[in-house]
Amino acid sequence: MNNQGTRREHPEIPSRSTREHDRLARLHQLATLGELAGGLAHELKNPLSTVKLNLQLLQEDLAGRADMERSHARIATLRREVDRLAETLDDFLRFAGRMELHLTPMHINRLVNDMVDFFQPQTHAAAVRLHASLCPEDPLCRLDGNLFKQAMLNLMINAMQAMPGGGDLIIRTHVDGNMVFVDVSDTGTGISPEAMPHLFEAYFTTKKGGTGLGLATTRRIIEEHQGHIQVTSEPGRGTNFRLEMPLETAE
Ligand SMILES: Nc1ncnc2c1ncn2[C@@H]1O[C@H](COP(=O)(O)OP(=O)(O)OP(=O)(O)O)[C@@H](O)[C@H]1O
Ligand SMILES: [Mg+2]
Repeated sequence: MNNQGTRREHPEIPSRSTREHDRLARLHQLATLGELAGGLAHELKNPLSTVKLNLQLLQEDLAGRADMERSHARIATLRREVDRLAETLDDFLRFAGRMELHLTPMHINRLVNDMVDFFQPQTHAAAVRLHASLCPEDPLCRLDGNLFKQAMLNLMINAMQAMPGGGDLIIRTHVDGNMVFVDVSDTGTGISPEAMPHLFEAYFTTKKGGTGLGLATTRRIIEEHQGHIQVTSEPGRGTNFRLEMPLETAE
């Protein structure tokens, strides 16, 4: 099964130019949305922090008042909800906000190794074997290292969550022409054909407590780098997310 992350009338693999057109259309749409989102977020953040601060002061005013226990509990609930609102706003901005790329030439294999080292303790605790299989070429790409790591981390977290009973999480790199491919594969639950067309939509989730912004954010980051993301999956056997990034020499 193959999917580029958008709904199509013809599900066959799209041509290179259709893919590029879709990528640019999405970036344009997000840039417009980002302008609005930035303004709205600014308008919301200030009153939200005022509410937060005043709740804290109120809690301090009532400290030590044994007869105010119910009020304490209510304030605690309000503070939790205000934190949740601020988090929702941050998640949304990470996806739709202005994304400034600080591009530098990066060794993609080194970046993958860093991610493996960083993520190893979590996979170990979840009985997931994490390993990397890196190409010999040591490819260089112009990347924003932090954003690219964020994109990979979202894929690695999803992979781990898809293997509740343990399994293999493998990251492979290989070079083909002027592109480098980074495959993040798991031996987890796989993705149903019904879910497949919606994976990259903002707020699409099948998880309890999931936000559904992980893949939408990852695709945004990759497409801002002139890259592409593709997914193949076999229900019951596992999933592979492929990042296709232009090599530095290709520019
Ligand atoms: N490796 C995977 N294996 C199986 N299903 C996956 C995998 N990656 C993504 N999915 C499916 O795609 C959905 C969307 O993923 P996405 O990362 O965008 O959101 P999420 O993981 O549900 O929430 P969060 O915002 O916390 O990342 C998931 O809910 C899951 O159904
Ligand atoms: Mg996720």
